[in-house]
Amino acid sequence: MMMVTRSLQLFVSLVCSLTIITIECAKVTQSPNIYNVTKTIVHSAVSKGAVCLDGSPPAYYFVPGFGEGVGNWIVQLSGGAWCKNVTDCQDRSNTDKGSSKHMGPIPFQGIHSKNQTANPDFYNWNKVIIAYCDGGSFTGDVEYVDPATNLHFRGARIFTTVMDELLAKGLKNAKNTQYTLEGSNIYECIDHGTCTTSQNNTLKEMRSDFLNALPKGTNPKHRGVFIDVVHHHTSIIRRWTPEIAIVVHNVSAPKAFADWYFDRNYTYLIDERDLPLPNLIPNVTYSS
Ligand SMILES: *[C@@H]1O[C@H](CO)[C@@H](O)[C@H](O)[C@H]1NC(C)=O
Ligand SMILES: *[C@@H]1O[C@H](CO)[C@@H](O)[C@H](O)[C@H]1NC(C)=O
Ligand SMILES: *[C@@H]1O[C@H](CO)[C@@H](O)[C@H](O)[C@H]1NC(C)=O
Ligand SMILES: *[C@@H]1O[C@H](CO)[C@@H](O)[C@H](O)[C@H]1NC(C)=O
Ligand SMILES: *[C@@H]1O[C@H](CO)[C@@H](O)[C@H](O)[C@H]1NC(C)=O
Ligand SMILES: *[C@@H]1O[C@H](CO)[C@@H](O)[C@H](O)[C@H]1NC(C)=O
Ligand SMILES: *[C@@H]1O[C@H](CO)[C@@H](O)[C@H](O)[C@H]1NC(C)=O
Repeated sequence: MMMVTRSLQLFVSLVCSLTIITIECAKVTQSPNIYNVTKTIVHSAVSKGAVCLDGSPPAYYFVPGFGEGVGNWIVQLSGGAWCKNVTDCQDRSNTDKGSSKHMGPIPFQGIHSKNQTANPDFYNWNKVIIAYCDGGSFTGDVEYVDPATNLHFRGARIFTTVMDELLAKGLKNAKNTQYTLEGSNIYECIDHGTCTTSQNNTLKEMRSDFLNALPKGTNPKHRGVFIDVVHHHTSIIRRWTPEIAIVVHNVSAPKAFADWYFDRNYTYLIDERDLPLPNLIPNVTYSS
């Protein structure tokens, strides 16, 4: 699931919605316009106690904007589920999801592509992916560190500290800012095509509850949330080019998104087909 908002206020409430979701990050191995970006470590965060699970400094991935895009920013918070107990969190602290020591280069693509043809609206923006290494979706702020485990639960401090660094880097002067959350795949069964009747019914109920819960109002501009779910999750990153974009009612997701984001056109485009849909995106393979 990926949600994008145009305001920081809304953004915060969406972080909370991740608490109920188990996150499974699919990796797509074939995608055009892909490039690797290396981490930027925020060393100054350590003195503020804003650290990853293992106590290492937090990090983000940054690609500077260029041309007319220098004043515009896309900031994404990485997803990756929560660790659930001490063993789980200790295991995680030895991976890139719990320690900046283990963070290698990551691929940028889709809405992060620098190719104008493939990504006409955002290709020249500043692009940031804030690495997720706190085990609790950027929410923790626990001072105490158990010496037996050395686990730190400081996600909220990481968020504040990294945002401060980005503000200093130019985000505070931004003309346009877009915040995105990378989320989850609720049922792996969808990707594997093995959902049971009961799982299918749960998914249908969730969809119906979710649509009912969307903010109502007369001005769609102020209902500004772009949501993509289930097997469409992370499509803003991985399914952004015309060849593999999601299309609903003959409007591609990148077009619908940009129309909404830039106030060109507002519509509810809801995929009415019976759910869950099998994953039919061509030329996309997964590992997890
Ligand atoms: C990105 O890095 C991965 C390994 O980390 C490598 O397999 C891949 O070829 C690199 N991609 C590009 C476009 O350099
Ligand atoms: C900790 O959580 C993991 C992941 O959910 C689970 O596999 C494991 O059984 C749990 N261990 C304990 C001791 O609860
Ligand atoms: C830019 O993206 C388009 C559309 O995906 C692709 O056809 C073209 O080869 C890309 N150009 C470069 C330089 O990668
Ligand atoms: C659940 O839905 C999927 C996709 O629509 C379908 O392929 C599958 O057969 C359904 N499962 C059952 C048990 O009906
Ligand atoms: C769907 O969109 C394409 C390209 O925008 C257009 O050529 C085609 O006529 C549209 N099809 C329908 C049924 O509206
Ligand atoms: C806005 O989008 C809807 C749905 O795709 C379309 O029917 C309508 O023509 C669009 N309006 C404009 C002004 O582009
Ligand atoms: C996708 O796969 C189809 C056949 O499986 C192939 O014809 C097509 O060229 C592929 N497209 C890309 C962009 O790789």
